[in-house]
Amino acid sequence: MSVEALRYQRGSLSILDQLLLPQRTVYQQLAGVRAAWQAIRDMKVRGAPAIAIVGCLSLAVELHQREDDVKEDLATFALESLDYLVTARPTAVNMAQAARELSDFVASEVKRPDSTAESLKENLISRIEGLLEKDVSNNKCIGSHGAEHILSRAKTDKVIILTHCNTGSLATAGYGTALGVIRSLWSTGRLERVYCTETRPYNQGARLTAYELVQEKIPATLIADSMVSVAMKEKGISAVVVGADRIVANGDTANKIGTYQLAIAARHHGIPFYVAAPSTSCDLALESGEQIVIEERPGAELTDVNGVRVAAPGIGVWNPAFDITPHNLITAGIVTEFGVHDPSELRKVLLDKTLPTQHTIPTIPR
Ligand code: MRU
Repeated sequence: MSVEALRYQRGSLSILDQLLLPQRTVYQQLAGVRAAWQAIRDMKVRGAPAIAIVGCLSLAVELHQREDDVKEDLATFALESLDYLVTARPTAVNMAQAARELSDFVASEVKRPDSTAESLKENLISRIEGLLEKDVSNNKCIGSHGAEHILSRAKTDKVIILTHCNTGSLATAGYGTALGVIRSLWSTGRLERVYCTETRPYNQGARLTAYELVQEKIPATLIADSMVSVAMKEKGISAVVVGADRIVANGDTANKIGTYQLAIAARHHGIPFYVAAPSTSCDLALESGEQIVIEERPGAELTDVNGVRVAAPGIGVWNPAFDITPHNLITAGIVTEFGVHDPSELRKVLLDKTLPTQHTIPTIPR
């Protein structure tokens, strides 16, 4: 069985502390919304879909413990909690999309004349629990659409894939997005090897993707981020597949820092470049990638390794967690649960599937 980023049963949520991987497998219980906010902010749990799911489930846990008599009190608590959870790591849009959808649901439940505090609580918890299953099923669809597309265009019997950051079971409710495509390729018997980047500065590739690939016994090779161009030149890479934290209306994509340079190098080498993400990572409220607010993380993630300072004292540090890949560099397509789309078609595909378009862009608290 794949590694589990979280364990949930009604009233109880724990997360696998990803800061301790791969050396130690420790699950940490999250008592509620504040604990989840902190775990997300500290990157004990990370990855756009996992952030949203853990945030929402932490609300479900706290709702389960409450004994409100007045439905409006419960609604206020839920709405304030959702707004707060969005601020933990706001570049990834999934939590904001989930907050908007659940807030609309709360508002409509409160308006129902026959609803009670008890029915609101029960219905909201069930709605949140539904997100878990939906994420896994979306990821399986992404996996098969992506694998089929790659194989239908492959020039060789077996394919070699390059990926970045961690987009697997650890970053989602299960199966993964870009890593889901890799899992699906592996299941067809036509995956020769995966190259995964180290993903500096936070090392999600070396610590987490490498861990998942080894556990799944998928043939894989770790490379430093600075090796991607030469790997593309010399290692017969068939396609690059990465995840997304936010894909806006024109197809521009925010993803882990380093994605942009991968896309440039892939274009130079004529290698197909895919973004794989669920529709919950898409944000039609923004027109272009320039409107995305990029999270900046503490300088210590660059200057220190395992708590030991390696950079010269006194040096300035810039540590953006994500970059924007312009849509014209996403040459092979954006893979969602609905299929593989040219970036120019994304807006229409999502509107046809009635994706909500409005949400607010929160500022990052310092
Ligand atoms: O900073 P992180 O580790 O949360 O960044 C993760 C990524 O950039 C992933 O590629 C993205 O969230 C997609 S995860 C399915």
